Amino acid sequence: MKPFSKRMPNLGTENAFAVIGKAKKFEKEVLKPQGKSLVYLQIGEPGFDTPENINEAAIKAIKDNQTHYTATPGIPELREAVAKLSSNYSAEPYSEEDVIVVPGGKPVMFYMLNALLDEGDEVIVPNPSYPIYGSVTEYLGGKMVPIQLKEENDFNFSADELRELITPKTKMIIINSPQNPTGGVYTKELLEEIAQIAIEHDLWVLSDEIYDRMVHDGEHISITSVPGMQERTVMLNGCSKTYAMTGYRIGWAVTKNKKMADYIEKLACNDTSCTNTISQYAALEAITGPQDQVDYMLNEYKKRRDLMVSLVNDIPGMSCHSPKGAFYLMVNVRELLDKLSITADELCDRIMKEAHVLILPGTVFGLFGDDFVRFSYVSTEEDIKEGLSRIKSYIESIYQP
Ligand SMILES: Cc1ncc(COP(=O)(O)O)c(C=O)c1O
Repeated sequence: MKPFSKRMPNLGTENAFAVIGKAKKFEKEVLKPQGKSLVYLQIGEPGFDTPENINEAAIKAIKDNQTHYTATPGIPELREAVAKLSSNYSAEPYSEEDVIVVPGGKPVMFYMLNALLDEGDEVIVPNPSYPIYGSVTEYLGGKMVPIQLKEENDFNFSADELRELITPKTKMIIINSPQNPTGGVYTKELLEEIAQIAIEHDLWVLSDEIYDRMVHDGEHISITSVPGMQERTVMLNGCSKTYAMTGYRIGWAVTKNKKMADYIEKLACNDTSCTNTISQYAALEAITGPQDQVDYMLNEYKKRRDLMVSLVNDIPGMSCHSPKGAFYLMVNVRELLDKLSITADELCDRIMKEAHVLILPGTVFGLFGDDFVRFSYVSTEEDIKEGLSRIKSYIESIYQP
């Protein structure tokens, strides 16, 4: 058999999916026969159903026979609505031509990195972070340069730390605020400093703002609010998290760089032709229809966050700050790991097998995640209480501070 491409071994994946696969198998083969089940506190998607008006819009689209191809960058009404929405954050208003609708937030990463990277180009990537940034960078022959998000700085980095990592090969910086997995939010000052550095060194920016509506304290700030940034930034966003529409697969790239917009459109045309038409009509309703469900979900997340933070901090060897955004809790377990001489991966495995709760090791999100485990607080209050109570009993049985 002829060999696979040399690129292929460099492609990573989202190990969170592998962890879930393992957990489901364990639940089915070991727990179920004993009448037991796992509590899932690792979930990376909204714990709510898609609002009814959005599902109705999808059903209407089918009944209206909106089941054919659309233009690659999306239906004009949706592009216009996204442009208007994105303009809430930007220095200058966006227009329809600045928007390319794609099947989810994820493809934006793939397309932008494809449009930019040549062998050896460097991309500065926050760490810990969403694993796909680094995976696609390395797959394309680029070099991922991690910048550490530090717990003591509310999971921000400093401008000096960023400057130190820039070399003549640096082509782009990826930022994500609010962040997965830390729940951190970049300060306005940091965003302005990143913008200044990007302009100074002529760098591109991928600004992943998929959790923009989930800022619990204060308001969302985008790097595109800094004058001069809209031409060098691709803003990534979509419906998955805000509207609980992960399965609809709908997202978008927004940029005032015409050449970049053209290349993203070309890549999308080669890849998928267009985004699912039914999903586009559902997204249009999501953005332009009533927003009360979004407010409700956000309010619920805030309550669940507060509950989870207080319960986690009551477990010996675990500590966390209250995250400012998204729906994740990055919990420091270093003390526990050192005392038990185990890794975060092993701790999560033990918690699954012994306490019957699924959480993720921070290492799923990069090397600087090794002091942490990630919880998500999208689950119901009941599940949060049950899961944390199980973990507390288990940890107390194996560790005395
Ligand atoms: C930071 C971040 N960006 C992008 C995505 C991908 O979103 P989508 O499901 O719309 O592709 C996720 C999903 O978990 C995410 O956490």
